[in-house]
Amino acid sequence: MYEFSQKALGTRPSAIREIIKNMNDPSMISFAGGNPAVECFPIEEIKKYSAKILEEQPVRMLLYGTTEGVPSLRESALAFANRYGRISTAEDDIAILTGSQQAMDFTARVFCNEGDTVVAEDPSFVGALNSFRAYGAKTVGVPMEDDGVDIAALEKAFAAVPKPKLFYVIPNFQNPTGLVTSAAKRQVIYDLAVKYDVPVLEDNPYGELRFEGEYIPPIKSLDQKGLVLYCGSFSKILAPGMRLAYIIANREIVEKLVTVKQCSDTHTNSWSQMVCDEWLRHSDTEAHIRAIRRVYERKCRLMLAEMDREFDQRVRYTRPSGGMFLWATLPKGVDMTAFVLEAQRRKVAVVPGSAFLCDEDGSTQCFRLNYSTPSDEDIVKGIGILGGLTREVCAGL
Ligand SMILES: Cc1ncc(COP(=O)(O)O)c(C=O)c1O
Repeated sequence: MYEFSQKALGTRPSAIREIIKNMNDPSMISFAGGNPAVECFPIEEIKKYSAKILEEQPVRMLLYGTTEGVPSLRESALAFANRYGRISTAEDDIAILTGSQQAMDFTARVFCNEGDTVVAEDPSFVGALNSFRAYGAKTVGVPMEDDGVDIAALEKAFAAVPKPKLFYVIPNFQNPTGLVTSAAKRQVIYDLAVKYDVPVLEDNPYGELRFEGEYIPPIKSLDQKGLVLYCGSFSKILAPGMRLAYIIANREIVEKLVTVKQCSDTHTNSWSQMVCDEWLRHSDTEAHIRAIRRVYERKCRLMLAEMDREFDQRVRYTRPSGGMFLWATLPKGVDMTAFVLEAQRRKVAVVPGSAFLCDEDGSTQCFRLNYSTPSDEDIVKGIGILGGLTREVCAGL
């Protein structure tokens, strides 16, 4: 009846829609979500700072603010991003965004024309891929290896004519695979970006959730040419409902993003920005981050231990050192979609890997599991059910 625009018509194939539709069933054990662990929200501090702001600065909190963000939060968020070593240069600027999802949307708007290409890790975060597609860009995937993208394939994608407009990368505990891009590959990615003059959108919502191994400086820290846009989010360390993220990039790029933001939501919610600023300035954020890392570590190790025991040995999976997800691969000959649907029938939800492919018509043997949202009890029960199913489907191979 309505004549919706091509952009509004959406892009995902219906098979995936059907699977995802049933995931909100409350009787389902869900490993399909993407929420952080709710026990990690610093609720008391949020209450305290919120009451303080309401008491001391109600008018500032309730008025319109500047599009680029509350000045004090721009300062504290920049200091937070630079705390392990400088990642921004004197030519950079920072803008506060309404979640990092907004960074994908705005970056696509600022860089992409209809028919352009955006190169991304394959698989990658479907929310970002859909943002690029929504502006008419084609997503070209570069296969993931254990330490980041396949470099030869990346160079081939960068060298393509016409030149891609952007490379989208999640270097820490990637969604959906849980993998980390090594320091060596970060350097090569940056060198190739310079060689082929392709801007890099570095999305780092999970970097703080490292529970094993050493901090690896972001690609942005290598950038002297203004080619990297770095996006950090407070969704996983504070609370996603506060919708707070930030982007650090060359001043000229930030200016363009801010113009787009003005047309989109004018500015990010002042209340949550001011609460976050108080939290960054007055609470022991490092102690909080250390504590939540332990929660993620425990949940991840529990899920892995159960999978090690329950899954058919032919199923392979990543062993994350941080973040919220792990990525499992069924052996050849098993129908992944049928597996996911049968798991759902047995009341366990996982996300079919096809949802994360750059090529929407591509196929995969993989599925994604989330360990941050389910309770320990559900992890044990759900993995028991999934494990039984893996043994059944692999028995006939
Ligand atoms: C890789 C990645 N980027 C960005 C986001 C969006 O996060 P937010 O908009 O809450 O900052 C997510 C959410 O799950 C994600 O996985």
